[in-house]
Amino acid sequence: MTSIRITEVGPRDGLQNEPRRIPTAAKVEFINRLSATGVCEIEVTSFVSERWVPQLGDAAEVLGSIHRRPGTIYSALVPNEQGLDRALETKLDKIAVFISATEGFSQRNTNGSISEVLARITPVITRARAANLIVRGYISCVIRCPFDGAVQPEQVRTLCAQLIDLGVHEVDLGDTIGSADPEAISRLYDGISSTIAPGATTLHLHDTQGRAIACAMRAIDIGVRSFDASVGGLGGCPYAPGAPGNVATEEFAQTLAARGFETGVDAHALAEAGRWMRQQLAGHSAAS
Ligand code: HMG
Ligand code: MG
Repeated sequence: MTSIRITEVGPRDGLQNEPRRIPTAAKVEFINRLSATGVCEIEVTSFVSERWVPQLGDAAEVLGSIHRRPGTIYSALVPNEQGLDRALETKLDKIAVFISATEGFSQRNTNGSISEVLARITPVITRARAANLIVRGYISCVIRCPFDGAVQPEQVRTLCAQLIDLGVHEVDLGDTIGSADPEAISRLYDGISSTIAPGATTLHLHDTQGRAIACAMRAIDIGVRSFDASVGGLGGCPYAPGAPGNVATEEFAQTLAARGFETGVDAHALAEAGRWMRQQLAGHSAAS
């Protein structure tokens, strides 16, 4: 049976866009529920500036309170050395640096040009590796940018090569605003495969048009074996107008199981965890 790796990004990508403060205890409970689903990796939070993403200002407290399931990888986003200093005070297996394929999103999301962000993350990657952390390198807007429009695969290929040179262990390709269709996925991988094999990438699909699962299935045909997803389809990026949640983990897991792929996750428990978090968000809205 072919195995597909799923990283649950709900606690980070799913919650970062929520306007009202979610209690730390609810985040911890959410992550503990996700750990029990058998998902192999959870992106827990971000060590970004609290001014930019107030929702995740409690990153250290969350990481200090969760129950870790042996074998699960726990990770967090890190934008700069200041974020890494904070991350290194906590218990993490992996960090994720992030960069955009386009200048427009780079400025809006990280207040810097692509080359400035490359310079910023260079010492982060070196120091994280020295601390024995696994390093993921996200590239956002691999299909389309909300500010700069269509993106050519060549732009993405160049950044893949730069991230690999800098020492990331994994390249994660983000369709930040969910504009891909299966043909765009084929074009993307045709354009980058001279630099990175599909099987060495993770695909991060947002589900604006309801095409994320079709895109993922095309990617699997091409050789991709690792995907990000968010239970209940929670989320979106505060700096990408119109970005919806990621592909829903439970729906994706069910589709994969029906097509004979192995994921190791309990889709029912995932759906329960997603429902539980949605109830917390609804209760929270009603109470605020
Ligand atoms: P900046 O304002 O240029 O930073 O932001 P700065 O270095 O000038 O510092 C300004 C203030 O922020 C200072 O505080 C710093 O201490 C503080 P002050 O002295 O004024 O009180 N600061 C920090 N505080 C805590 N932790 C830090 C940190 N860094 C600075 N790490 C920066 C630059 C990159 C920090 C900012 O733009 C930022 O945090 N951006 C992150 C935005 C974000 O999290 N976006 C969502 C995640 S990316 C995403 O969703 C896409 C993805 O899902 C893939 C996809 O879908 O494509 C991954
Ligand atoms: Mg995202």
